[in-house]
Amino acid sequence: MKIRTPFHFDETPLRQSRVGFRGLVSRFGGGREIIRTFAMVFQVFNIMVETNKNLKDFNTFSIDCIAREYAEFKSAEDFDMVQELYARRGGLRILGGGSNTVFTEEVFDGCVLRVCNRGIEVLEENEDFVVLRVAAGEVWREFVRWCCEKMYCGLENLAAIYGTVGATPVQNIGAYGVQVADYIERVECFNMATGEMRSVNARDCEFDYRYSRWKKGNGNELIYSVVFRLRKHFVPQTGYAAVARMLEGKEVKDLTPLAMCDMITNLRNSKLPDVTVLGNAGSFFKNPTVSEEVFERLKAEDENLVSFKENKGVKLSAAYLIERCGFKGKRFGNVGMHAKQALVLVNYGGATGKEIVAFAKQVIETVYDKYGVRLEIEAHIV
Ligand code: EPU
Repeated sequence: MKIRTPFHFDETPLRQSRVGFRGLVSRFGGGREIIRTFAMVFQVFNIMVETNKNLKDFNTFSIDCIAREYAEFKSAEDFDMVQELYARRGGLRILGGGSNTVFTEEVFDGCVLRVCNRGIEVLEENEDFVVLRVAAGEVWREFVRWCCEKMYCGLENLAAIYGTVGATPVQNIGAYGVQVADYIERVECFNMATGEMRSVNARDCEFDYRYSRWKKGNGNELIYSVVFRLRKHFVPQTGYAAVARMLEGKEVKDLTPLAMCDMITNLRNSKLPDVTVLGNAGSFFKNPTVSEEVFERLKAEDENLVSFKENKGVKLSAAYLIERCGFKGKRFGNVGMHAKQALVLVNYGGATGKEIVAFAKQVIETVYDKYGVRLEIEAHIV
């Protein structure tokens, strides 16, 4: 279904977006083009295009990368501007919280569009459910906490994950037995090539383990908002071993979504490095799925192999494989695998994207040589 009218968010954003003068439009053509460009300048006055912008503060690895052009998308009023930019550059690199992106070049020779729109709208509410439309630029961890405070339930186990709301469907984020796709009703997109709005129902999002239709590349689609259906009765999701351990000795019936959110936050903080201290992108690799046959062979060689039975085969813990290859807690120049979670590649300071990718390849090769299993990078390499 195509929707032409842009949505407007009624509720106050979780935090006010920063608005301001952001530099000058970089290029002016000649003749008629000047008139057209000036028209665009006025039209897009609040969302100026900056040139040679360092993206260091906009990626959680804190990699220095200069974007030739940079703009921020703040509201539906910017759609015309986005379309202009898209047409002029023949594509845009969309950035949310930059928590899953590795910039490998010193200069990104294109235009980066950072999604900063804010707002939450209640579309439907009854005794059992609430349906929320959330602007893509909202900060995920703030949104989850806000839901927990309001007793909108389901997302507690996804607390404290970095990034924006609009980025969550892209790789179908997941943690502690929950994946965001379980709560997404639809994803609303702006087609940057045609200017049309499109609502993609969950069943058409191609959700899978850390995967969706947008994971192959955004194409023309800018995720504008995500619609969630959340329960109003709290049922803690305690199936994951680490969560069950955390709740041992506690009365589950007394648990609130907010208490769960805090516990998950503490659990994550105890294992995963704070991006403001050690740059990282969460899990750098996906957990690989192998056939029963391969699993049996590996298990015969290593009885401690960490694995999880799946419909399609057996999922192995990439962290375990990486740890067994001796990478856990080891530093190699500016990079290394985290001491408390071997799946997390960290930047000890000053690492370039190229160093990160070269090290990741070394990890992949070593694991492959030892186990015959090829790890796949989860992060986006740009
Ligand atoms: N393990 C090790 N060594 C380690 C870490 C883990 O052997 O260094 C083993 C342990 O046996 C542990 C098992 O692996 O019990 C699973 O570990 P964990 O619960 O940490 O989960 P994971 O599979 O390593 C996934 C997600 C994480 C998410 C956690 C918790 C992926 C790629 N990663 O990690 O997501 O937080 O589960 O649910 O699926 C992220 O995507 O950025 C992320 C952090």
